[in-house]
Amino acid sequence: MSSPLRTLARPESAAPFGANALGSLRARENALAALLPVRKHGVGMMRVLHVSDVHVDLPVWRIPLRELLGKRVIGAANLVLRRRKHFLHTLAKLAALARFADEQRIDLVICTGDYTALGTLAELEAARRAIEPLARGRCFVTVPGNHDLYMPDTVRDGRFERVFGDLLSTDLPELAGADGWPRVRVFGDQLAVVSVNSARPNPQPWRSSGRIPDAQLRALSEVLRDERVAGRNLLIATHYAPRRADGSPDRWSHGLENADALLAICAQAPRSAILHGHLHDRFHLPGAPMLFGSGSTTHDGREGLWLFEIERDRGRAVPGAYRDGAYQLEPTASVTLNS
Ligand SMILES: [Fe+2]
Ligand SMILES: [Fe+2]
Repeated sequence: MSSPLRTLARPESAAPFGANALGSLRARENALAALLPVRKHGVGMMRVLHVSDVHVDLPVWRIPLRELLGKRVIGAANLVLRRRKHFLHTLAKLAALARFADEQRIDLVICTGDYTALGTLAELEAARRAIEPLARGRCFVTVPGNHDLYMPDTVRDGRFERVFGDLLSTDLPELAGADGWPRVRVFGDQLAVVSVNSARPNPQPWRSSGRIPDAQLRALSEVLRDERVAGRNLLIATHYAPRRADGSPDRWSHGLENADALLAICAQAPRSAILHGHLHDRFHLPGAPMLFGSGSTTHDGREGLWLFEIERDRGRAVPGAYRDGAYQLEPTASVTLNS
């Protein structure tokens, strides 16, 4: 019997952006981790950790002056005056998160973006170093958040792809649109993870909304119908929340513009769940698709995560929080996945 963790990944396809030596090494590790036999959890179960919005920031003096233009000046002031106090312990929490992932024997980590505050190259590189213990030796799937694509220069320079490119591999490149999204990882016969990029630069100071390009939504619809994806449990990872915790749409300046279109397409796949961040509170909404927001995994007092246990015909999601210097699960609040 083939390994439940065997994917369709080709090792040589795992570093599509000419990543640096560390990235190339991680790409090989990512591909090898996907080929490992199931370890200790019993045949056919995958343990998937969903985290988000870790927001690693740097002292403003470490940001090159040439990047402190436009909205980034306002963002830097907001960071110093209001935001930073909520993320003072992010690096210690990411170290605790790596220990938690080891203890919980996590096979796959999904991070739904917002690694940074201002989308500078220095922040992205610092965040990448900070998540390395979490990513090492296991599969890792990610998407950018709006803070990672903060200004047009981040996209023009391809910064996110340069730093995180080896974590952006796809097993089905022929189904991606011209922008490379959506990306797909297939794990055995029980799980497919589809990552969708809903983030974009928002140079206007009053706006932090997202939108999935129409071509990407059309490609997503094709992916969900593909025989290599359909029939598996499906986790769809994107940064923006299609709904707030009370089930209502987010406000126009902060939410996902075409959330209804995303929900309609994902409803094609009855065993699907959308995993997202952006809203810094952990919550879950039932339905088809199910929605799981991990909130911010490092925001003081609001830390959240989800641990998914996925088998061929069933699955559950266990919420987690941070208490007394460690991440802990809350099994009594577990949610059964649609089957
Ligand atoms: Fe965030
Ligand atoms: Fe965000």
